[in-house]
Amino acid sequence: MESAVEEEVSVEDEAVDKNVFKDCSKIAFYKRQKQLLSKKSTYRVLLESVTTGKDSTRFQITNEATKIPLLAEVCGIEGNIFRLKINEVTPLKPRYEVPDVLTSKPSTVRLISCSEDTDNLVLAYGKEDLKFHITTDPFKIDLVSEGEVVMSINSLGQLYFEHLQIPPKERATKENKNDEPIDTSQEYQEALGLWEEKFGKFVDIKANGPASVGLDFSLHGFEHLYGIPQHAESHQLKNTGDGDAYRLYNLDVYGYKIHDKMGIYGSVPYLLAHKLGRTIGIFWLNASETLVEINTEPAVECSLTQMDSVVVKQEVKSQTDVHWMSESGIIDVFLLTGPTPSDVFKQYSYLTGTQAMPPFFSLGYHQCRWNYEDEQDVKAVDAGFDEHDIPYDVMWLDIEHTRGKRYFTWDRKRFPNPKRMQELLKSKKRKLVVISDPHIKIDPNYVLYAKAKEQGFFVKNNEGGDFEGVCWPGLSSYLDFTNPKVREWYSGLFDFPVYQGSTDILFIWNDMNEPSVFRGPEQTMQKNAIHHGNWEHRELHNIYGFYQQMATAEGLIQRSKGKERPFVLTRSFFAGSQKYGAVWTGDNRSSWSYLRISIPMLLTLSITGISFCGADVGGFIGNPEAELLVRWYQAGAYQPFFRGHATKNTKRREPWLFGEKYTRLIREAIRARYTLLPYWYTLFYHAHVASEPVIRKCFIGSSSHTTKSHHY
Ligand code: GLC
Repeated sequence: MESAVEEEVSVEDEAVDKNVFKDCSKIAFYKRQKQLLSKKSTYRVLLESVTTGKDSTRFQITNEATKIPLLAEVCGIEGNIFRLKINEVTPLKPRYEVPDVLTSKPSTVRLISCSEDTDNLVLAYGKEDLKFHITTDPFKIDLVSEGEVVMSINSLGQLYFEHLQIPPKERATKENKNDEPIDTSQEYQEALGLWEEKFGKFVDIKANGPASVGLDFSLHGFEHLYGIPQHAESHQLKNTGDGDAYRLYNLDVYGYKIHDKMGIYGSVPYLLAHKLGRTIGIFWLNASETLVEINTEPAVECSLTQMDSVVVKQEVKSQTDVHWMSESGIIDVFLLTGPTPSDVFKQYSYLTGTQAMPPFFSLGYHQCRWNYEDEQDVKAVDAGFDEHDIPYDVMWLDIEHTRGKRYFTWDRKRFPNPKRMQELLKSKKRKLVVISDPHIKIDPNYVLYAKAKEQGFFVKNNEGGDFEGVCWPGLSSYLDFTNPKVREWYSGLFDFPVYQGSTDILFIWNDMNEPSVFRGPEQTMQKNAIHHGNWEHRELHNIYGFYQQMATAEGLIQRSKGKERPFVLTRSFFAGSQKYGAVWTGDNRSSWSYLRISIPMLLTLSITGISFCGADVGGFIGNPEAELLVRWYQAGAYQPFFRGHATKNTKRREPWLFGEKYTRLIREAIRARYTLLPYWYTLFYHAHVASEPVIRKCFIGSSSHTTKSHHY
């Protein structure tokens, strides 16, 4: 947060202000789903509507309350994956379907209908012993593998779908006798947050009204679940109690709280479940605000067995229920049937792509700080590594290197000759990374701003003007990276002649791309801002940062005429971001607990496809004591992305500033990293070609009979 970083910050400083961020009790679609689901109106399949085509089987489902049918579509996808889509048959206007995440149109496998009775529909996946058993009334799906029900969908009846409606004001004036009566009273509308939702001083006016969706999945025999980053939480997902859920909503949370389910910088709506003999995955392709409830219930069955003496055999059959809810869009869910962890990794990367192969240098050690002040400072730090015989590969420059936080420019007082500085680094085979954020300072004399403005490349507010919000440079507009034309233009900005002062050793860091908007609702953009194609920001909030990294990576590839692999670090991300570079865990703190939590946070990112990930070594906020810093280097040396970073106003902490003993220990840790560099490179190659996460937990057969879940 802007104000917080301006001040001298100590680790134990102010906690995250919970009034700035929402919990479930302040989220209208969560409250509506809870309230309306308790009224239980079950869906049933309209049997006469079933049609089977080459690529999919479709049928309609309806419930007594709305009587408006939904269209369900089931298809088999290469590699033992099922896809289930549920949308309105004829929505008032199209609903958002997340583009650009799936690598290509996944190849379908014909599903063979093999029902034996008329009440059920059984779809078999080719020759595999894998079936979708669809019970028609009430609507439920069982995923059956070799006779075993692995997962049931909607067995708890939590399918929820808000049909798009005509706004109440227009509706009240229309004469339509068939229209069901609706309560247009202000209190009713407000209580449910249908067309307007208040949060503190913010009012979210919703163009499409209520549009949320939800569905439950029961995982039979599973009690170990992982995934759905990003949370500062244990690797194994925990049960969510009443009024609590894992939130997926990309937010700039400075010094985020540990062991909390609130959403932070990025979202991957994908989880894995593991039990003895089977691992499965659920990928919920939706880019709007999403909540996930998890509830594991071990059901204990006792049986007596006569042996020499009577023994009690206790069998524990657990079940985990997962309930996904999203604010808008459609239900588009992929069921990854495993059966092994590595099958699931492959299935997921078949859909979203594998980890991009990083350039070799980027696996070395990176030296960052907010800020290295000027060319002199850069030279001195660079020389310090040589003097102390510590290897490093990449020097980083934060926002102050620019002219007044105008990205793609240089502060010529501090960096009078950026090319000369890069020559020096290059002579030692080192690289430079500079920051480029998505907010663009409103300044008609700033060429980049003027050009973007002229071409209509900014996100719009709901009145049709350019959206304006405050970030590092002051009042700014935000590039609309969801527009392919904007991405193309932005990519072009990295061309050497266009980006003055850049050379082929300069690479990019995308930050604040949740997007962060100071003083905006929850420090981000209003949900009713408008993007390309007239989509509201709410539909695609979680994918905004993904698109910036995509455009940046493309720009770096293009400037090298397709010859060099790019390096781009991003703070915000979505499913599939692994195709574009690296991710880090944002503004952590210099304390032992943040060092500790970095491990599960990175493991979680890794198994959800994002292998190239790291946490700021030393902790971003606060001043680490020497031992913490050393231990952090020792841990960071074995984490995929290895960068020391610190915020403004912290004490300098280059590795040689704590006395010879500590310099030696840090030197040894960084050298150990370098000794293993070829091995890291090989591991990344395996991630790239064979979908194997670079770091991962041991998926040994944790038996449902014996394991106790232990939380990290
Ligand atoms: C954000 C980033 C941090 C960076 C700072 C200034 O807080 O998370 O890494 O140093 O912005 O750009």
